Amino acid sequence: MATLEIRDLHVTVADKEILKGVNLTVKAGETHAIMGPNGSGKSTLAYAIAGHPKYTVTSGSVTLDGEDVLAMEVDERARAGLFLAMQYPVEVPGVSVSNFMRTAVTAVRGEAPKLRLFSKELKERMAELQMDPAFAQRSVNEGFSGGEKKRHEILQLEMLQPKIAVLDETDSGLDVDALKVVSEGVNRFSAAGETGVLLITHYTRILRYVKPDFVHVFADGHIVAAGGPELADELEAEGYEKYTKAGV
Ligand SMILES: Nc1ncnc2c1ncn2[C@@H]1O[C@H](COP(=O)(O)OP(=O)(O)OP(=O)(O)O)[C@@H](O)[C@H]1O
Ligand SMILES: [Mg+2]
Repeated sequence: MATLEIRDLHVTVADKEILKGVNLTVKAGETHAIMGPNGSGKSTLAYAIAGHPKYTVTSGSVTLDGEDVLAMEVDERARAGLFLAMQYPVEVPGVSVSNFMRTAVTAVRGEAPKLRLFSKELKERMAELQMDPAFAQRSVNEGFSGGEKKRHEILQLEMLQPKIAVLDETDSGLDVDALKVVSEGVNRFSAAGETGVLLITHYTRILRYVKPDFVHVFADGHIVAAGGPELADELEAEGYEKYTKAGV
């Protein structure tokens, strides 16, 4: 069973320490929510796992099934079964959703899918997500609405079938429809039991639709509390003050 293990991870950005010892284990079939105030380092965690060059790991480890993720090139991480969806996905002008997806699928599966089969698969998945077929010809993320970005994100998940998915959710600015797209996607994956999901958010709104198995509170660069779904309800009622004031 796939396991992502993060051990005592320290990360600096522009010479400033942002992550101060993160410990977390995510297994296939589990959904973990990371919640925490703005600026606490949640996206930094996602970027560090993704291998973004601006984020320097100074100590600690990240492994997927015992393999050193931090030693892998960015594309190797995807091949190993990691999927990372960023809070602010990059626009790729001139590259269509269809071409982008075929390249990603080729990289992850290790061989180019037959064009006809690939087109059929993409069309079917898009129909499931109620996406207009014309969307396949749009440039990646260019001018996408919040909801379209989310559909595109879940489309990638479905096509790539990762072992572990890290989803950094904006949820601000997303309407209920977009939230439902993400939630249904996440729920489908966790129900199948083959993908572990790490869902990063700072609102509990999305957690009305996704029932995480574990909730972690993130403050000042590390996890300061952990619990079950009831912790999300507590955060909704009381906010993060308790965790940030204590100076932990
Ligand atoms: N590329 C960067 N250059 C400089 N500072 C950065 C960079 N990336 C992150 N930081 C800083 O690191 C800290 C943590 O930012 P991060 O984006 O990880 O927070 P977050 O928990 O995701 O916040 P939010 O809930 O608003 O998404 C912030 O103080 C931020 O300004
Ligand atoms: Mg963030």
